[in-house]
Amino acid sequence: MSTTHTSDLKIIKAETSKIDTVDFSNLTFGANFTDYMFECDYKDGVWQTPTIRPYGDLTMSPAAKVFHYGQAVFEGMKAYKDDNGDVFLFRPQQNIERINKSSKRMAIPEFPEEILMNALKTIVSMEKAWVQPGTGNSLYIRPFVIATQVGVSASPSTEYKFMIIMAPVNAYYIGDVKVVIADHFSRSADGGVGGAKAAGNYGAQFYPTNLAKEKGFQQIIWTDSNEHKYLEEAGTMNVFFRINDTLITAPISDRILDGVTRKSILKLAEKAGVKTEVKKLTVSELVAATKNGSLKEIFGAGTAAVVSPVSAFSFEEHIYDLEKQEDSYATTFKTQLMDIQYNRAEDSFNWRIKVD
Ligand SMILES: Cc1ncc(COP(=O)(O)O)c(C=O)c1O
Repeated sequence: MSTTHTSDLKIIKAETSKIDTVDFSNLTFGANFTDYMFECDYKDGVWQTPTIRPYGDLTMSPAAKVFHYGQAVFEGMKAYKDDNGDVFLFRPQQNIERINKSSKRMAIPEFPEEILMNALKTIVSMEKAWVQPGTGNSLYIRPFVIATQVGVSASPSTEYKFMIIMAPVNAYYIGDVKVVIADHFSRSADGGVGGAKAAGNYGAQFYPTNLAKEKGFQQIIWTDSNEHKYLEEAGTMNVFFRINDTLITAPISDRILDGVTRKSILKLAEKAGVKTEVKKLTVSELVAATKNGSLKEIFGAGTAAVVSPVSAFSFEEHIYDLEKQEDSYATTFKTQLMDIQYNRAEDSFNWRIKVD
């Protein structure tokens, strides 16, 4: 763990708030940002003074390493408001640990966990008014780290910027999703960076995802890069398969992101007595289960949409439609998870963290 110059959080106040200019009922996901941002620079081998200051543009050299070598990682998490106006984070420690895991893989110095937790709670507390109540409304929180050293030599940067920016969002409902199961392109490889939230993982998916969109699909379910045999995860979601009444998801590996929603759903399912299996499921097992009627559901799980039911998948040019389930696990666990996030249900796992 790296050290900081000082653990004292410096706060520079904004003169005005732009909150009145925002139409909270009609937000484009991640397009409006709050009044403040968190910033902490790394130089001379230490993280400098952690600072919260008014949100604004950065001025950077075009030779900063992030622009040339993509040395950048990020996180995605949310704050929720209950009907009494109290604001909560959901399992923030998981995101803190994950950004440091991602940083390590990208040769970026890790950020002190306690300072990050304090910064998160402080900035969210300062921006409580931006967290709208109501199911589906939340404040999307985007921590990220970029390499800022000036110079185009292909080596790890000696300077970095850790930031947190935040955007109010409405329910992220994209409807039922049709997916393509990857049989050519790959998202990640053994020993690669798929298990890290590295910026380049996302940019690299845009082209194959555009090809899928041209054919009427919204997402890709990635398979292993060696044989395209095992089902792994979607672009920004882990994936669950319900075969008969067993909920199956792929094991985490260095190709798959360790999603917070995935592990929370596994816990809720276990608690509800639903049989879960964390195992490698093959595409041919999926196709066979679809044909013999034992495949009941497929759904994606991630912070943005909580769960996204899949209505059809395509593999090697065949399209397989899924029937809608009356007693869908997707709906059950989405409701249970949101009830915990919005402080409407008992939190027996202690996942909620109240922001004072
Ligand atoms: C590649 C990938 N898989 C899975 C997830 C889901 O993770 P989480 O549930 O922590 O949002 C995300 C989103 O962060 C992702 O980018």
